[in-house]
Amino acid sequence: AGIDHLVKLTSDLKLDNVRETFPTAYPETNPVDVYRIHLTNVLEKITGVDRKIIYPALQWTQGLDKGDVMMAVPALRVKGKKPDELAKEWTDKFPEDDPLISKPVVTAVHMSFFFKTEPLTKAVIPLIRSLGKTYGNNPAMGLKDPKNPDGERKRIIVEFSSPNIAKPFHAGHLRSTIIGGFIANLYELAGWDVVRINYLGDWGKQYGLLALAFERYGDEEALNKDPINHLFNLYVRINAEIKEEEDKVKALKAEGKDAEAAQLVESGLDEQARKYFKKMVDGDETALKQWRRFRDLSITRYQQTYARLNIHFDSYSGESQVPESAMEAAAREMEAKGISTESDGARIVDFTALVPGKEGKRLERPIIRKKDGTALYLTRDISELLGRHEKYNYDQMIYVVASQQDLHLKQLFKIVELMGHKDIAAKCQHINFGMVLGMSTRKGTVKFLDDILRDVGDKMHEVMRKNDDKYSQVANPEATADTLGISSVMIQDMTGKRINNYTFNMDAMTSFEGDTGPYLQYAHARVCSIERRAAIPAEELAKADLSLLTEPHAINLVRALSQWPDVVQNTLKTLEPTTVVIYLFKLTHVLSSSYDGLRIVGAEEEVRKARMALYDAARIVISNGMRLLGLSPVERM
Ligand code: ARG
Repeated sequence: AGIDHLVKLTSDLKLDNVRETFPTAYPETNPVDVYRIHLTNVLEKITGVDRKIIYPALQWTQGLDKGDVMMAVPALRVKGKKPDELAKEWTDKFPEDDPLISKPVVTAVHMSFFFKTEPLTKAVIPLIRSLGKTYGNNPAMGLKDPKNPDGERKRIIVEFSSPNIAKPFHAGHLRSTIIGGFIANLYELAGWDVVRINYLGDWGKQYGLLALAFERYGDEEALNKDPINHLFNLYVRINAEIKEEEDKVKALKAEGKDAEAAQLVESGLDEQARKYFKKMVDGDETALKQWRRFRDLSITRYQQTYARLNIHFDSYSGESQVPESAMEAAAREMEAKGISTESDGARIVDFTALVPGKEGKRLERPIIRKKDGTALYLTRDISELLGRHEKYNYDQMIYVVASQQDLHLKQLFKIVELMGHKDIAAKCQHINFGMVLGMSTRKGTVKFLDDILRDVGDKMHEVMRKNDDKYSQVANPEATADTLGISSVMIQDMTGKRINNYTFNMDAMTSFEGDTGPYLQYAHARVCSIERRAAIPAEELAKADLSLLTEPHAINLVRALSQWPDVVQNTLKTLEPTTVVIYLFKLTHVLSSSYDGLRIVGAEEEVRKARMALYDAARIVISNGMRLLGLSPVERM
């Protein structure tokens, strides 16, 4: 609905088959792209530069005071004249009576373009209100052939969260979950076919050890009731025993009692665990059955927690799911191609010899087969990557893993490349992130995700209870407190750039002051409350006379709202949640500051409707942004 309004006002906008000329233009969903196309037409006449060079030079701005789009004159690559002179010259030639855009504002070599307000308002508010939840989505971006809207979509695999069964779900997994969920949502909005994979740490000698622990100290009831905690307790207990044994062995050796030490090693837990795991690898049904139960129970429990975070997975893969046969095939391939070499009985990839210079040194010499023939973390990842390509035939794959594993993923991708799968390696990308500091219990032990979410939820409940009036109107205060708590954690996580470390700070994240999760939720709930009180039917809002929105606050709000699809498009380049977070806080600040000047109560009937339509559009954009981040917007709090 909205875009037509702009098209009618101009004589030069033909949007059919627009991507033949501008492959990255999506005017059907992004109003700013409509302006870009029109502006390109105007500037082509003035500058004589090719439209294909002009269009991508029309960039978004750092703030509304810098215009709605801007252009760095040197980007047009016109020779023979100084850019600042060109800027002035082109601005002089810019038509005064352009229907959509005011005369540019020049600062040095930049030209800032401001959209004329009435056409923008009349286009954007109806566009947002008619698209609703889908405003900001850009399904055409995921097309294999951007010119064919009915054609095939690109497929992306996002691997994220990937905790280790029986070990703590630590901050690294929390960040992977939050960031991965966001990236998966983002690609979905862009029309990609998204496959979400959780690659569990569910294989290796430690799972043999866990089974031994269960044989000795396991409790069926506790396992069924709370598998994650029970398995973890077993894990801690048996690891303490292993440590004791190791200490004993050391002591014996120190006393020169080597035979006794060797005997202890031979009969010890570590050796038993190794044997047990060997049984699992060899397909011993009893051993596998027990292990599978641990895995299934853990997954069921994880799923409950993921649901609280609005996250689901299409596949629970894991280290256990990589077939031995695939690893053997990969091993043969690597040997045949001279990628793996023998070293002390083990097989390694000696990057220092394979890859010249600094890069080879940096990649080191990882082991891919131990002396006793067992595979490793890296070995499994190689086969898993290739297996996924066969199974899903992905166009891209993203691994959301902490930056501690930068080297591991570099090694992985390089090995796949050296194996002759350069094309597959090129489709893989590591999205890394920094650490969370200060996230442990008072006792200094590890904390589980559920405990963290519960603590933060309790804290929010406390805050809510301070306002009796409002509290009594919230239908399910516990659930709302839970949602607010989760929002607190998530916004704190997504506020900085991914790579930065941050400190887990319960007081700061749950505060209503500053750019926090609760503040964002409050901004959303407040518009909802204004809409409830005004109670103007949607059909009435659709008929509102939007030319009544002339105040600077109203105009700035419309301008901010018009940027949302562009923000989404830009986020696909940065893959940074903070790109969205920054935008949402800017938007909510513009919104909060407009309430005083754009009152609903006491305003004249037509003005009331127009303002309400604007607020309704703002609510939609805030909600869409929050849902992209993975938050559940609340309507009351
Ligand atoms: N389970 C691993 C860990 O907790 C993370 C897995 C990352 N993904 C991968 N394909 N290696 O450290």
